Amino acid sequence: MDKFWGSNFSNKALKVRPSPIREMLSVVNQPGMISFAGGMPAPDVFPVKEFHEGTEVFLRDGPSLLQYGTTEGFTPLKEYLSEWTAPRMGRKAALDEMLLTSGSQQVLDLMGWAMIDPGDYVITEDPSYLAALTAFHNHGSRFIGIPTDAEGMVVDMLPEKIEKARSEGKKVKFIYTIVNFQNPAGCTLSLERRKKLVEISNKYGVPIFEDDPYGYVRFDGDHLPSIFSLDQEGGVIYAGSFSKILAPGTRIGWCTGSRDIIRKLTVFKQSTDLCSSPISQALIYEYCKKGYLDAHLPKIVADYRAKRDAMEDSFKKYLPLDEVSWVKPEGGFFYWIHMPHIDAEDLFKKAIEKKVAFVIGAPFFANGGGEHNARINYTYSTPDTIEEGVKRLGEAMREMLGKA
Ligand SMILES: Cc1ncc(COP(=O)(O)O)c(C=O)c1O
Repeated sequence: MDKFWGSNFSNKALKVRPSPIREMLSVVNQPGMISFAGGMPAPDVFPVKEFHEGTEVFLRDGPSLLQYGTTEGFTPLKEYLSEWTAPRMGRKAALDEMLLTSGSQQVLDLMGWAMIDPGDYVITEDPSYLAALTAFHNHGSRFIGIPTDAEGMVVDMLPEKIEKARSEGKKVKFIYTIVNFQNPAGCTLSLERRKKLVEISNKYGVPIFEDDPYGYVRFDGDHLPSIFSLDQEGGVIYAGSFSKILAPGTRIGWCTGSRDIIRKLTVFKQSTDLCSSPISQALIYEYCKKGYLDAHLPKIVADYRAKRDAMEDSFKKYLPLDEVSWVKPEGGFFYWIHMPHIDAEDLFKKAIEKKVAFVIGAPFFANGGGEHNARINYTYSTPDTIEEGVKRLGEAMREMLGKA
């Protein structure tokens, strides 16, 4: 082991795991590859011109924007967000119930700092967002996975799981759920289950972490009330993000919750990054206050809906339909497909030969499973490349099934 570094690494560093899909994804940049692998917005819908307009703020407020900001976040943006999110949150959150963060990914890490001791348990959906599992794992978390179906987490299973864990002396710290257009499964937690989840959380005193970066990207049907808005006891923390509705390069997200948890997260944020970029927060505020965000949302919804439809049509046209099933997502970025007779890792290798990439299902499960699943992104490609990519994927599947 290296004299300086390796021999001095922390236990955390020795246990940290690089993303299991990173290596796989290194092939994605090969020439001619069609990638359904990432989770990125379409670059051609970024509102470059409108965002750039906000840079005039430098001539007005340059010195303060180039200074350190407050850990809590840029007040005008918090005020805007409090108002803008009120319909979803059921009320206007007070400013000290909100924290602006460096992406919503930072909320995941801060929740780890505030809530998780090594050996504690977090309840997650099976499957769940890979970088959430990694962030919690880095704080020493173990996981209790709850299956999902077309209506999201099967919340009826929670009481038994919580009681069993407690009877075994396990500490269950919170329930992590991606309520809308889940990453990776694409599903949305039904209203009935949202209500039940709040009931269970209140009954057992297990808080809920409602992660909602995709909620505003809805193609069909009506928005559902957030879990935060259904809870009257202060047991829910809600995380949102500008990444999917504006641009991930802004690296700004937020969370809303009761003062107890927001204060703790703020203290940990102080030692993590002091503050999120004041420049970025001010540019977002300039953009939003001119009404550009409200005007932009219908554009991305229309663009991504057309791509979702292109993918749905291509699936029906090119995939072996008796061997693949999926639920059409009502919003968000992903399809999640199930292939009972195809190993996703083998399919990945075959697909790469045919120059189409996706993400295999297994890494999204904290405790194993998902070998016959794949996550397929549609927002990043054009409808034409979607059709060509799905055609290649269908060929790869048929070859694996011996039906080519
Ligand atoms: C479910 C979920 N939560 C959080 C994030 C983090 O997003 P960001 O840090 O860009 O806000 C992502 C990104 O893909 C995500 O899918």
